[in-house]
Amino acid sequence: MNTLSTASAPSQGRILDNDLFLRALRRENVERTPTWMMRQAGRYLPEYRATRAKAGGFMDLCRNAELCCEVTLQPLERYGLDAAILFSDILTIPDAMGLGLSFAEGEGPQFARPLRNAADIDALPDPDPEGELRYVMNAVRTIRGALGSRLPLIGFAGSPWTLATYMVEGRGGHDFAKIKALAYEQPEVLDRLSAKLAKSVTQYLLAQVAAGADALMVFDTWGGVLAPSLYRRHSLDPMRAIVAGLKAAAPTVPVILFTKNGGQYLSEMADTGCDGLGVDWTTDLSVARERVAGRVALQGNLDPTTLFASPERIRAEVARVLQSYGAGPGHIFNLGHGILQQTPPEHAGVMIAAVRELSPAHHVTGAALKS
Ligand code: CP3
Repeated sequence: MNTLSTASAPSQGRILDNDLFLRALRRENVERTPTWMMRQAGRYLPEYRATRAKAGGFMDLCRNAELCCEVTLQPLERYGLDAAILFSDILTIPDAMGLGLSFAEGEGPQFARPLRNAADIDALPDPDPEGELRYVMNAVRTIRGALGSRLPLIGFAGSPWTLATYMVEGRGGHDFAKIKALAYEQPEVLDRLSAKLAKSVTQYLLAQVAAGADALMVFDTWGGVLAPSLYRRHSLDPMRAIVAGLKAAAPTVPVILFTKNGGQYLSEMADTGCDGLGVDWTTDLSVARERVAGRVALQGNLDPTTLFASPERIRAEVARVLQSYGAGPGHIFNLGHGILQQTPPEHAGVMIAAVRELSPAHHVTGAALKS
């Protein structure tokens, strides 16, 4: 495990050996660009597939704190990553609301009882993070214990809009016809669902902080399928409410928002009061950096498909992403979306090694600062 000697007091009074990720989120100077990968624990790793087979199904894995901890640590042991992310899923909240989540092999997530009408929405319960969702908090506590002071732990949840797409469609959407029809026909009903989800997501994320998470990320995987006015009302506004709730209760815990295909909204997203924004590969980091104008840190944005190319090509693309962000603090290197299942694990290693080797040139060292 790579650690740095420059530890400072992080958000929760926890002294971490490697706090590059948290410092980058605060846009402080760092020696090199910190890196982690969305979906870093997952099916591209043989050791993950072995643990998952031991657990049974994917949700059995999520409900077993020891095994969740095992798979969370697997990519950290393999690569020199600068952050751990809780192993869980965004669909735990709708499951805890009683929708009956299952993962059919090769078909993705499905709900047995999707939302059909306003009455279904108004009847949704508000899950207790230490009740129905205690298995997630137990995973956070177990992972925190195993990590000790080595690395920061990222907690996460889905955005209200992204959760609502699964809850209304009943499964992963293609055209999102049902939920978009709801947005056009009965926007105030969708507002009620968003408000409930924003409240549940805020409580859930704060409980993850209490259990040991150092930073939080909200995944808005499907915000980019909306027309701009609908995005603002049904995706951005509920995320703004979440950031406000988090900042009121835990002002020092950094929050990252990520709307896939949301490059055009980066400036408005920066105004929510969040600390960092995820950027996918369809927006150059140089453009993203101009749009946010120093208000937030940026996380991204190598196209995950790059990892199917040769090591030489991967290094060249890493160099291009670093160059695109340019010099100075506030960059967290990541993929522009989750790592793909067919990725050769060594190729992820090539990417991480390249960031370590090439990124120091983009940062001002302490010595250079003084001279
Ligand atoms: O980043 C990490 O390593 C943390 C773990 C994580 C998972 N899901 C594990 C997982 C995170 C952050 C998520 C978030 C998630 N889940 C999102 C948003 C992130 C994004 O990529 O935009 C979404 C849309 C989901 C819903 C979901 N869960 C889908 C679409 C799938 C894939 C279903 C399939 O069969 O292909 C899942 C399952 C899932 N979540 C897996 C993992 C490792 C694969 C499950 C398996 O082992 O079979």
